[in-house]
Amino acid sequence: MTTTAHLKIFRGDAQQGVMVDYQVPVAPGMVVLDAVHAVQATQAPDLAVRWNCKAGKCGSCGGEVNGKPRLMCMDRMDKYPAGEPITIRPLKTFPVIKDLATDVSWNYSVNKSVPAFQPPPGQDELNFSQAEADRVQEFRKCIECFLCQNVCHVLREHEKYDDFGGPRFFVRVAGLEMHPQDQADRTGLVKDDLGLGYCNITKCCTEVCPESIAITDNAIIPLKERVADRFYDPLRALWRLLFGSKS
Ligand code: SF4
Ligand code: SF4
Ligand code: FES
Repeated sequence: MTTTAHLKIFRGDAQQGVMVDYQVPVAPGMVVLDAVHAVQATQAPDLAVRWNCKAGKCGSCGGEVNGKPRLMCMDRMDKYPAGEPITIRPLKTFPVIKDLATDVSWNYSVNKSVPAFQPPPGQDELNFSQAEADRVQEFRKCIECFLCQNVCHVLREHEKYDDFGGPRFFVRVAGLEMHPQDQADRTGLVKDDLGLGYCNITKCCTEVCPESIAITDNAIIPLKERVADRFYDPLRALWRLLFGSKS
């Protein structure tokens, strides 16, 4: 059965904008991105929205639906009460380019500051156990949707873009630091440049991750422990000085 949805969509740019009302027919199985596309096709061809895969895997279609960060392509319309308006806004933490499209390029500049995987010198083959591979596999599921960045209060409310990397990059660093064969030490980077100390483990990032990455428990807390060991434990610091171990 086809029903009608009432959407209120942000239209505007970084300087100004308004919420505009649209009505679209809703078919069974429709997601919010379908509804936005229906608006685009029938009423507002200039409505800007970013998307790519429509399968929850490219991370492009993030927005705030009824105030909650969502991948719009995975957000079913039938979960919203019939007859009530559905508000759709761009991610708040990043500057709006137009309508629902935001400029997330700040994230790519943070990414460049993270040293890449560094294999042991002269070793062509990397051997490690399945358990070790499984440990870092979780972090590699990240689709760079930046929903975690969007909800983190250090960025969203306090705008610490110069001092804080955000949960997505703690996930990236954790995936590298916990790789059994990686030789680089990024604890100084997470402590100073990525501002891990600003994180007070509220877990808001973990709650919104569409890939169900345990960002706080499995990435942030182990990184905080590594920073504490590296910079505040004199015996471990001496051990590293003598033997050069990361662990
Ligand atoms: S746990 Fe830390 S990184 Fe995650 S949202 Fe909270 S303050 Fe931000
Ligand atoms: S960690 Fe999760 S929420 Fe954050 S960017 Fe990656 S997939 Fe998105
Ligand atoms: S369009 Fe790719 S995650 Fe939604």
